Amino acid sequence: FHVPKAVNEPVKSYAPNSAEKANVQAAYKEMWNSKIDVPLYIGSEEIRTGNTRNMTAPHDHKHIVGTYHLAEKTHIEKAIANALEAKTKWANLAWEQRAAIFLKAAELIAGPYRAKINAATMIAQSKNIYQAEIDASCELIDFLRYNVEFMTQIYNDQPKSDSLVWNRLEYRPLEGFVYAITPFNFTAIAANLPASAAMMGNVVIWKPSDSQVFSAKIIIDVFKEAGVPDGVINVVFGDAQMISDTIFSSRDFAGVHFTGSTHVFKDIWAKVGSNIHHYKTYPRIVGETGGKDFIVAHPSANVKQVATGIVRGAFEFQGQKCSAASRAYIPQSLWSEVKSQLIFDVKSLKMGSPEDFGNFITAVIHEGSFDKLAKYIDQAKADSDAEIIVGGNYDKSVGYFVEPTVIVTTNPKYTTMETELFGPVITIYVYEDTKWADTLILVDETSDYALTGAVFSQDRYAIEEATIALQNAAGNFYVNDKPTGAVVGMQPFGGARASGTNDKAGSALNLLRWVSPRTIKETF
Ligand code: SER
Repeated sequence: FHVPKAVNEPVKSYAPNSAEKANVQAAYKEMWNSKIDVPLYIGSEEIRTGNTRNMTAPHDHKHIVGTYHLAEKTHIEKAIANALEAKTKWANLAWEQRAAIFLKAAELIAGPYRAKINAATMIAQSKNIYQAEIDASCELIDFLRYNVEFMTQIYNDQPKSDSLVWNRLEYRPLEGFVYAITPFNFTAIAANLPASAAMMGNVVIWKPSDSQVFSAKIIIDVFKEAGVPDGVINVVFGDAQMISDTIFSSRDFAGVHFTGSTHVFKDIWAKVGSNIHHYKTYPRIVGETGGKDFIVAHPSANVKQVATGIVRGAFEFQGQKCSAASRAYIPQSLWSEVKSQLIFDVKSLKMGSPEDFGNFITAVIHEGSFDKLAKYIDQAKADSDAEIIVGGNYDKSVGYFVEPTVIVTTNPKYTTMETELFGPVITIYVYEDTKWADTLILVDETSDYALTGAVFSQDRYAIEEATIALQNAAGNFYVNDKPTGAVVGMQPFGGARASGTNDKAGSALNLLRWVSPRTIKETF
């Protein structure tokens, strides 16, 4: 059985006068005032509990985009019951049928839903159109298409047999249900975490981030239209603690697919550990949990490449990527040139609403994030071992705007060299050229995280040294490129240490976490 070979969805240009630009602008305009009301999706029902919260736009936080309904404990119990009810039929459906459903979902996003899901991501997650297109359209479509291809490879990977004995591996889903907890910063990740588990025959309770409800609604609508049966993916919003407690106390909890903070993920391990005697199976715990991602330049590096790597790596997507470059190590001999180039480049970045397609930087996600960034920026202004060389202003009167900011420190263990800020701030340490090997050790030891990192060098031997010295410091390691923008099917994504379980999103390695295979030996 063959499914179509996966191809990456081409990124549309949104050039002036293009059809895609007109379409997304029309969708944005219509959805801006739609006052959308998002229910819980449990089994075949759309439940409006009446207990609602507002969705707002981060770049215009007084503007209410719509509302969403919050679950009580009984709704979570109902979601679990509905998921389990849907389970047998879904698990026993031929996997080709499940593949067809998710391929259809990819085509719905690529076509009729593209403008809508991009506009929802621009409005409620404040992404500019190019960021929305790369995330909510292309990456989401790529996850679905490639995972179907990986799924085909998995199901076709069978043990040896002979004419008297037929051996087969039946890739059964987990026994129970999977819980997907997804972040605000990537619409694609939000769709992929429930979809990858569901594709392998599992039923899912999905809790999207409060800041991603708008695009989550479009995702579940698309999944249902593509043919995902009622009860297979249930969507709930509300108090995270209550939802998680209810789920982790179910005997049928079989796994969690998580992207979010290290702190929350560790709490999940602890909670699952404390309930371990109660579960029917050992739950799978899969998570991706942030980073403090580095750029290290060797004295042989190309200055323009380094500056571009810093600007794009740190400031695209408002720095709200777990892969974003947030600490850089530059040799003294290159510093003056890198510094002028950086100041020049950063000053040219326009900041404002995503509605204006000329804006490179938009708002950060919410007040909590804004206040945290403002606090660290103020601290850097006050500290004698830190200096802000460009940026450093912020303003939340209309939206949560934080200028792209470059801090330079004389202290390699300065607080913003170590702490994940999740915003458009990068800290640079300038090292003596003779200390290349020591600097590599410093890069490795300064952070608990190990998600992404980049080395810039024109010297093959130095690239090799960095590749070896930093072998555990990043799950995605880049040579002469920014440490962001992993493409599904090309650079499987994920990190270890405090960054997660490194089960590479968009790969067979991830899908294998959602199966519990049965070996069948049949003797003729
Ligand atoms: N996968 C994204 C990247 O590589 C981050 O979420 O930048």
